[in-house]
Amino acid sequence: MSQGDFNNKVVLVTGAASGIGEAIAKAFLEQGAEVIVVDLDISALNNCFDSYDLAKSLQQDLTVANAAATIADWVARNGGRLDILVNNAGRALPSEIGTTTDELWQTMMDINVNAMFRLTRELLPLLKDSDAGRIINLGSIMSDMAGPNLFAYGTTKHAVAGMTKSMSVDLGKFGITANYLQPGAIVTALSKPFFDDATFKQYWEDKASMGRLGQPEDVAHAALFLASEKSSFITGVGLNVDGGAIVMF
Ligand SMILES: NC(=O)c1ccc[n+]([C@@H]2O[C@H](COP(=O)([O-])OP(=O)(O)OC[C@H]3O[C@@H](n4cnc5c(N)ncnc54)[C@H](O)[C@@H]3O)[C@@H](O)[C@H]2O)c1
Repeated sequence: MSQGDFNNKVVLVTGAASGIGEAIAKAFLEQGAEVIVVDLDISALNNCFDSYDLAKSLQQDLTVANAAATIADWVARNGGRLDILVNNAGRALPSEIGTTTDELWQTMMDINVNAMFRLTRELLPLLKDSDAGRIINLGSIMSDMAGPNLFAYGTTKHAVAGMTKSMSVDLGKFGITANYLQPGAIVTALSKPFFDDATFKQYWEDKASMGRLGQPEDVAHAALFLASEKSSFITGVGLNVDGGAIVMF
């Protein structure tokens, strides 16, 4: 990818104030794109993006009623263009089937699944107007595996896989691709509580054939590829970004 490959492209990244979303938004900015960065946390957004002229910050809780319509309206009033939608915002509350409350279940579905569906639906008219619309959803290696304490999280990430495949079927006729990223163990605020356990951290370092945990930039590079012209015949697939952690039995 050379500098400026995304000149004149407009990108929207949710959950951009931290971790993977922040790295993805910065990667697009460094390639010349205009990037609308959306998050709950406006002061973190400002800290991250104040020095980027082409970043536009929008504070929004994606789980409140009308969040998607509010964002779509804001985009329509601020340029009215969108080429690349990155549905990144997500949470990972630990849970097992026996102890998962209705409230925890709903919280996880609301941010990891419902927000992704509604925002994509509301922004579709703008993506259809693009020459090369791209949807990139954040799944996980837990989009096709399961793990301890990941009952609700794993369920939502399987839903991301199914939803993205279905989006790809519906949207190919508009020239829009829809794919999902499947990060493995990436060092961010979300994963910190898990990696504070030294045994757990060592397990994932050893499990990756690359012998390390991932960094948010590892995922950002994959997002750039899925957003590029070079990926125009790739749709409906999940791309593992896990250093080889799950390929080995
Ligand atoms: N870190 C990992 O190891 C890992 C692995 C696989 C998949 N993922 C996925 O990558 C995505 C990003 O994760 P991360 O590790 O960068 O997390 P993170 O906690 O570092 O960042 C998530 C961001 O989303 C924002 N957010 C949360 N709820 C929101 C809401 N209701 N409205 C608006 N913004 C909200 C947070 O404020 C935060 O800035 C998630 O979908 C996650 O499931 C992460």
